Amino acid sequence: MYSEKFQKSLAAVEAAREANIALEPRRMTAQEKTDLLAAYHPDYKQDEFEVLQIGPNKGDKVPKELAKTLQAHSRITPESVDLNSPDYDVDVLVIGGGGAGASAAIEADEAGANVMIVTKLRIGDANTMMAEGGIQAADKPNDSPAIHFVDAFGGGHFAAKRELLQRLVCEAPEAIQWLSELGVEFDKTEDGTMVTTHGGGTSRKRMHAAKDYSGAEIMRTLRDEVLNRGIPVVDFTAAIELILDENGNAAGAVLMNMETKELLVARAKTVIIATGGAGRMHYQGFPTSNHYGATADGLVLGYRAGAKLLYAETLQYHPTGAAYPEQIFGALVTEKVRSLGAKLINVNGEAFMHPLETRDVSAASIIRECSTRGNGVETDNGTAVWLDTPMIEKIGGEGTIEKRIPAMMRMFGKYGIDIRKEPILVYPTLHYQNGGLDITRDGMTTNVKNLFVAGEAVGGIHGKNRLMGNSLLDIIVFGRIAGKSAGETCKNVTVGKLTLDHINAFEKEIVDAGIETDAVSPKLLPDYTRKVNA
Ligand code: FUM
Repeated sequence: MYSEKFQKSLAAVEAAREANIALEPRRMTAQEKTDLLAAYHPDYKQDEFEVLQIGPNKGDKVPKELAKTLQAHSRITPESVDLNSPDYDVDVLVIGGGGAGASAAIEADEAGANVMIVTKLRIGDANTMMAEGGIQAADKPNDSPAIHFVDAFGGGHFAAKRELLQRLVCEAPEAIQWLSELGVEFDKTEDGTMVTTHGGGTSRKRMHAAKDYSGAEIMRTLRDEVLNRGIPVVDFTAAIELILDENGNAAGAVLMNMETKELLVARAKTVIIATGGAGRMHYQGFPTSNHYGATADGLVLGYRAGAKLLYAETLQYHPTGAAYPEQIFGALVTEKVRSLGAKLINVNGEAFMHPLETRDVSAASIIRECSTRGNGVETDNGTAVWLDTPMIEKIGGEGTIEKRIPAMMRMFGKYGIDIRKEPILVYPTLHYQNGGLDITRDGMTTNVKNLFVAGEAVGGIHGKNRLMGNSLLDIIVFGRIAGKSAGETCKNVTVGKLTLDHINAFEKEIVDAGIETDAVSPKLLPDYTRKVNA
């Protein structure tokens, strides 16, 4: 259901469809990719970054919006909080109710720890729930963790912390097994073999999926497991500051009831940050595929308490965010659409790139097509390229779309676009935070003891660009690692006197650096208030 202005371009796409299906666009050379990224990827736009003036990463560049929130004032003063009579006293405090937090809580509980989850929204309100395409694991005879490592290491520009990536790929098959046993319904053939597909930058088909709502299926199962185990979940309660003890070790968090703003104190022997990503920071004005609560909170909590960041300057722009209609602008169009055969086509009906280059390269290529090459399709929100979904039915047979990507069919169907018959318009959308808090192979931050991190708040697992399906994987693998480690560590922890002195120390740094700001953080929720002209 496209209006008149799209018809000429649509006709060109349709006319070239058969030829484009037959065409095998060549892969770019390493040099072509390097040049493309430097010229078109948002991570390379130097004027969109700012050097941090304070904190453990002083001197490093991060996106302007992140610099502002990292160098902001606390929401509290130490004097406003009574640390002497905590409202909660636990072994393991998990901050965040997504896939990483839930996995961590399950394993900490399994280790015998007294664990509690706090989450600013509800358990399951998280990026995990919105993940679509699948989860990677090298568990087929033609594949191996070593091959998975090589794909991910190369895709991440050889920058991943090797010991983290090694754990990710080696523990992947067991993660799939664990999820299956908990009840995740992965797609299988009639004889029970897992159906696996390619993602961008994978040399083997190792993407396991539950149609195109893999994250929802995984989160449903993890949430059930948390609740069945009776793990306490404190909903609508944000962690707004970490608490340290007199030895400088993590020892809990100050919590804020999101509705009443009441402050509460949770004392803990170990703390796990599993707060997810940052899409709602809308870096460089990009729309996002992320959940409403993705505001980089964990980075702020950790940073103010002294934890180091790694690669916080690298973000992932998913190549295919919905660009039309406006109601779903920025929503994720899963990479699985391209795995199943749809190609990226410009306004003239030309397949301008290989559809499964890595994400940063694909996003940059689309941006180039729409900008300097002038080959984008004009929409109400800018320009976009076609993703030729009808190719999927021609390649895989009638019914493939309904069977393999029903959520995509429904999302566009609501607006009168039948993706089996008509292509869709896409443009990069802010999708993932490659960087985050720096951790050891056991999930503890490198410089704050008893503070663990899991999921999207971690930096370094994927290097400077992540491959599709390695995020659902990392929330499980590193969620479980953090939960097990925290659950064991807490057995030998004696918490010292609680303090919030780091808030005053950070405030002094702000003043000494001459930073003038009225920002407070963590941000917790995006501000979409309409600004009405006076
Ligand atoms: O395209 C997707 O389905 C996204 C997957 C991912 O970010 O891993």
